[in-house]
Amino acid sequence: MKKDLLYEGKAKKVYSTDNAEELIVDYKDDATAFNGLKKGTIEGKGVINNRVTNHLMKMLEARGIPTHFIKELSARETLVKKVTIVPLEVIVRNIAAGSLSKRLGLEEGTKLASTVLEYCYKDDALGDPMVNEYHIKAMNLATDEEIKTIADYSFKINKFLSEYLADLNIELVDFKLEFGRLTDGTIVLADEISPDTCRFWDSKTHEKLDKDRFRRDLGNVEGAYKEIMKRLMGE
Ligand code: TMP
Repeated sequence: MKKDLLYEGKAKKVYSTDNAEELIVDYKDDATAFNGLKKGTIEGKGVINNRVTNHLMKMLEARGIPTHFIKELSARETLVKKVTIVPLEVIVRNIAAGSLSKRLGLEEGTKLASTVLEYCYKDDALGDPMVNEYHIKAMNLATDEEIKTIADYSFKINKFLSEYLADLNIELVDFKLEFGRLTDGTIVLADEISPDTCRFWDSKTHEKLDKDRFRRDLGNVEGAYKEIMKRLMGE
């Protein structure tokens, strides 16, 4: 099935297939933080992120959010629709944490009065700087209509995921999404939704169950990823 390695990122490899419209994503155990400055391995992460992402993307599809997901091929590999990635990291925040806490002086854990949507321009050399709708338009990164669609999907995804996770005793603090364009221009959700790209806190203890355990050297990184998979998928 896999043909050529098209791209190797920090956490995933992407391969071409016999079908020009379809790609295979292969999730790695490699972990990086701070734009690649910190490097490590999280045993079993690739399997968990692949399975958790697919589980959530299937649920989102069923609720009317188009995604790149086609089919899980193996524990680490998934067949997806080929997209051109819109070069934006779309960040949705419900509770202050991470860079928002630093930038605005809000204590981590402060409930935000309303949901915050942020965009960062995906450019490693520049350190993924934050941009707004005007920058996005001025740089031709996306059209007005595409930005509207992306924002609309992001808020819907936040509502659905927050409610779904609350039932599993998980607070969805914040998360990062990426969108892509299919050949015909349709905007779909792409990349991953996993403990690498979300902040998940236990609702009662506020224990961190995500990549912050790796970023901040909090220990029990593997245990946190496993706990998320167990709560979401029962295994
Ligand atoms: P931040 O508080 O560091 O800006 O992160 C916000 C959210 O985005 C958090 O859930 C982690 C996620 N994220 C990524 O998925 N990739 C990244 O490169 C960064 C910096 C954050």
